[in-house]
Amino acid sequence: MFASSVAMPWSDAQAHTTVSIPKANPRAFPANFLWGAATAAYQVEGAVNEDGRGVSIWDTFSRMPGKISQGATGDVADDSYHRYPEDIALMKAIGLHAYRFSIAWPRIFPNGSGEPNEKGIDHYRRFTEALLEAGIKPFCTLYHWDLPQALEDKGGWQNKATAQRFADYAGYTSGKLADLIENWITINEMSTIVDSGFSRGRDAPGLKLGRKALAQIRHHVALAHGLGVQAIRTSCRSSVKVGSAENLRAITPVYNSAEHVEAARKAMVEENAPYLTVMYTGRYTDGYLKKLGADAPVFTPEELKIISSPTDFQGLNVYSASYVRAADTAEGYAMVPYPAAYPKMDSTWLSIGPESLYWVPKLAAETLGICEIYITENGCSTRDVVAADGEVYDTDRVMFLAAYLTQLQRGISEGVPVRGYFVWSLLDNFEWGDGYSTRFGIHYVDYATQKRTPKLSAKFYANLVTRNEI
Ligand code: GCO
Repeated sequence: MFASSVAMPWSDAQAHTTVSIPKANPRAFPANFLWGAATAAYQVEGAVNEDGRGVSIWDTFSRMPGKISQGATGDVADDSYHRYPEDIALMKAIGLHAYRFSIAWPRIFPNGSGEPNEKGIDHYRRFTEALLEAGIKPFCTLYHWDLPQALEDKGGWQNKATAQRFADYAGYTSGKLADLIENWITINEMSTIVDSGFSRGRDAPGLKLGRKALAQIRHHVALAHGLGVQAIRTSCRSSVKVGSAENLRAITPVYNSAEHVEAARKAMVEENAPYLTVMYTGRYTDGYLKKLGADAPVFTPEELKIISSPTDFQGLNVYSASYVRAADTAEGYAMVPYPAAYPKMDSTWLSIGPESLYWVPKLAAETLGICEIYITENGCSTRDVVAADGEVYDTDRVMFLAAYLTQLQRGISEGVPVRGYFVWSLLDNFEWGDGYSTRFGIHYVDYATQKRTPKLSAKFYANLVTRNEI
C-alpha cells in the first residue's frame, strides 16, 4: 500500500522531509488509484433525434455555415448512443476502473425545464447498468456544454434563471440515477463555456460579448454549479459525491525556484479568481474585482455562499501549462507567453507542458485547500493513420501521456491528493469547432464504418493500468 504522511497544506521544506515513497517501487501509483477515460455526450452519442431528445445549442451552432471544420456536426459522431456495449467492451479490454461521460440535458428535459422525458432517463439507466456490470465506475457530468436550445432562446447563460434551471435538471436527474451513480460532476469547464462561447465566439452559442456581460455570465455559470451541488445533495443518498471539472489556468512556474514557485502560488489564486477561487474561498478576490472595476458582476453575499457550497472532490482538466515567473508587479507575478516555436500537438492551443500535471494539482491543493482531486481530462490531439498492418502507431500520444503521467506520479509520491486520472478520450470524437479533423482518442474511429481500433496508446494505457506504475 502506498503511504504518504504529508499533511495539507504543506511547505516545500516539509515535502522533502516527510514524504514516504515505497522503496520497492518509486514509480508506483497508489494501490487504489482510479484509472479512467472520458467523453462527453454531444461528442460521441449521435442519435440527436431519437427517444424524444430536444435540440441543444450545439445542434444549432454546428449548422451555422463556417463554424465547424468541414461543416461537421455531432448528428452521428461515434454513434455511442447505440454502440455503447461495444464501447464498454473496449474499456473492459484495457482494464479501466472508471468512465467519465456526460448526460445530454435535452434528452432529460427536451425543453430545458418542465416535463421530463422518461426515455432519456431510461437510456442512461441501461447504460450505467451495463458499465456497472462490467465493473466500471460511472463518473457522470451533468453539463458538458449542450444547453437546451429552448433555454438559449430565453437568454441562456446571460439569464440568471438558467442557473436555477440547471439545478432543477441536476436534482431531478441525479435523484433518478443515484442508486447507480455515486460520483457526479456538475459543470465541465466553466471558463471554456464563457471564453469560447461568449467572448471568442468559437463555441456555441457563438457570441462575442464585452467585458461586463462576460463577467456576469461567469457569475451565472458559477452560481449554477453551486445550486447544482445543493440540488444533488437534496435529492440523493448521502454517500453520493459531488464536484466540478474545471480547466483552471494551469499555473506552472517557469522553473522550480523559491521565488517562481511563490509567484505561481499567487497566480493560482488570482488567475482562477472567478471559478475555483470563489468556489473554495466564497469570495471574489480584491484583485479580480479591481481589475474589472465598473464591469464587475452584480452578486449578493448569499450567492457567493451558494457558489462555495462544499464539494467532495475537484476535477481538474489539464492540457497545457500556463507559465508564470516572479515579477516586481502589483500581483507579484507575471504570465510568460509561449515563444513562437514552442512545441504543440495537433490543436493550435495544445502546447506540450508535462510539468503542469505536477504543479497544477499541487498548487491548487496547497493554495485552495482542496483535499481530493481527480484529473478529469488530460490527453492530446494527433493525426493518426491506420498502418498497412491495420494498427495505429500513435507514438506521439504515448510520448505525451508518458511525460505527463510521470509528472503526475511525481506529485502523488510527494503527497498531492490526486485520486484518479481520466484520459481524454476513450474514442476519437467530435472535437467541437475542429469537427473530426483531429483525433483525441486512444481508440481510432473510422467514421465511415464506425469501426473502433485500439491505438498503440490504448495498449500503453492497458499496460499502465495493469502495472500501476509509470
Ligand atoms: C474540453 C472538453 C472536451 C474536449 C477536450 C479536447 O475540455 O474542452 O471537456 O470536450 O474535447 O478538452 O479539446
